Amino acid sequence: MSPTGSPIKNKTSISARLLAWHRRHGRHDLPWQGTRDAYRIWVAEIMLQQTQVAAVIPYYARFLEHFPDIAALAAASQDEVLRLWSGLGYYSRARNLQRAAQLITEHHKGVFPRALGDITALPGIGRSTAAAIAAFAYGTRAAILDGNVKRVLARHFAVAGFPGGKRVEEGLWQLAEEQLPPRAIGRYTQALMDLGATLCTRAKPRCADCPLAQSCRALALAQVGNFPAPRPSRRVPTRAIHMLLLVRAGELLLEKRPSSGIWGGLWSLPELAERAGAKERCRAHYGCSIAAPQPLAPLAHGFTHFKLHIQPLLCRVQKLAPAAREPGQIWLSLEEAQGAAIPVPVRKLIGRLLAHRPAPGRGLAKRSE
Ligand code: ADE
Repeated sequence: MSPTGSPIKNKTSISARLLAWHRRHGRHDLPWQGTRDAYRIWVAEIMLQQTQVAAVIPYYARFLEHFPDIAALAAASQDEVLRLWSGLGYYSRARNLQRAAQLITEHHKGVFPRALGDITALPGIGRSTAAAIAAFAYGTRAAILDGNVKRVLARHFAVAGFPGGKRVEEGLWQLAEEQLPPRAIGRYTQALMDLGATLCTRAKPRCADCPLAQSCRALALAQVGNFPAPRPSRRVPTRAIHMLLLVRAGELLLEKRPSSGIWGGLWSLPELAERAGAKERCRAHYGCSIAAPQPLAPLAHGFTHFKLHIQPLLCRVQKLAPAAREPGQIWLSLEEAQGAAIPVPVRKLIGRLLAHRPAPGRGLAKRSE
C-alpha cells in the first residue's frame, strides 16, 4: 500500500491522540464496559455486529438476565434463545452464539478461551470480533478491523480501493496492527470504535473535532468523502422468465419448487421461458383451459450472481379438468398464498392482485395494474 498526499504533520502517535480524546469525549457508560467477563463482552460484540448501540442495550440486559453465563446459554432451548433475540434480526448470530457456548462447554471446560486461535475457531466470531473480545477481557494486544475502523484507516492513510477487497483489506490489517499502542489496548480499541461511530462517520464526518485531523491524508487532499472507495458495481447476467398467475374462482395455482437450487422447497408460480407456450403448458401440466394470457407490469429480482427479469402473465382459467391435481401443485386463495412459504417477487405479485381485486362477485383482477 502506498499512501498518497502530504507528509504526516503530527508527530504524536495515532494511539496517544485517540486515548487522550477518548478520556474526554469517548463513551464510558455502556453496559458491557464495566466488566472483564469475556462472556458478557462476547454477547455484546455479537449483538453490536449489525445493530446500533441504542437498539442493543435493552436486548443485552434481558439476554443476560436469562442467560447469566456460558453454562446457562449452552443448556437453554434454541427456541428460548431465538425468542430473546427476536427483534434484533440476523438470527444466525443467536444460533452461533449458543452453538459456541456448547462448544466452550465441551472443549474448554466451560471457560471462554484466551488464545485468539481458539476464539476465532468458535462459530460466529471472526478475526476482528475475536480481537475486540480479547482486548476488552484480557488486554490482548490485537487489532480490530470492523467496518468503522476500515473507514477511519482508509481516510487517515488515504488508502485507495474498496476495503472489502482482499488486497486492500490485507493492507488495512497491517495498518491497524502498526497503530496498536504498547499498553491500554482495551481503551484504545474502544476509542477507535467510538471515533468511527461518532466523528468519522460515513455521511457527515466531523473533521473539525477529530483528534486525527492534523495527520489525516484524506482531509489534506479534501477527499474525505471519497474514502473508502465504494464497492465496485459488478455486472451480473440477467435471466428473463415468464411467471403464470393461474387464477380460478379467487384461487391461485402454486407449484412446489425442487428442494435444491434457487428458492429450493418454496411454493412458487409456474415458469415459462416464452410467452408463446402458455396455453399449451396450462393444459398439459395444470389441466386448465385459459383465455389469452394478459401481461402485467414486469418486475426484477436481484440475486447475488444474476438478476431475474420476471414477466408476469395473468391467466384466467375457463375450465379445469376434474382430475387435474398433480402432487406439488396447490390451489390457494390469494390470502392463503400470501401466508405460504413463497419467494419475495411472488409475494409482490400476489400483493398486486390483492390490491387490484375488484369488489366481491365481479371476478378477480379485472384491471391488471
Ligand atoms: N460496536 C462494536 N463493538 C462496540 C463496543 N464495544 N462499543 C460500542 N460500539 C461497538
